[in-house]
Amino acid sequence: MKNLTLVSNPLVKRDVTILRDKTTGSPEFRAALNRVSYAIAIEIGKGIELIEFDVQTPLEITKGHKLKRQIVLVPVLRAGLSMVSSFLEMIPDAKVGHIGLQRDEKTLEPIDYYYKTPKNLVDSLTILLDPMLATGGSAVASFKYLKQKGAKNCVLACLIAAPEGVEKMNNEHPEVPVFTAALDRQLNEHGFIMPGLGDAGDRTFGTF
Ligand code: PRP
Repeated sequence: MKNLTLVSNPLVKRDVTILRDKTTGSPEFRAALNRVSYAIAIEIGKGIELIEFDVQTPLEITKGHKLKRQIVLVPVLRAGLSMVSSFLEMIPDAKVGHIGLQRDEKTLEPIDYYYKTPKNLVDSLTILLDPMLATGGSAVASFKYLKQKGAKNCVLACLIAAPEGVEKMNNEHPEVPVFTAALDRQLNEHGFIMPGLGDAGDRTFGTF
């Protein structure tokens, strides 16, 4: 899958296992999700463009770097909120937009209920945050909206992905790289990622 980067190392694998384990409670789930989000942010960071400039150290002038583009984080409510704090710690000057989408449990189609992003995203790097890429309907709809707002440089950060969702992203937004910490087997008949980790939003916020 050419648009996909699997973010994996022994620490991430250990944490993905904690996330999958049904006996993991919300505090431990949130902590593991934060750690994996750091790893994903660092991996995305490898591709971020820089501008070189002169910086005066206490001793002399040397070459320094700053980010070329304003970074805009866009969590998909609700579950995407769980990735914001890690990304903001890595990128403290990022702006944060929000997209509210809820998957209809019968049709699996995303229903939108909230949008608030910076007005013009043309020059930004826009990073969509959503722990789960299942059918891909939510991510595809989110990028459609973000592109209407001018977004040109886009990335999707998720924790766990189904092949169906990666393929849909590949078809609908082929230029958007997808970063995930796990690529699972398939969706089941209810649109749940298998073997998966259940519903990231419910497990993060304890709303069972
Ligand atoms: C989940 C998840 C994604 C979406 C993925 O959200 O957080 O946003 O489903 O599914 P898709 O790829 O098939 O669109 P959910 O609707 O459960 O809402 P929540 O975040 O409020 O729990």
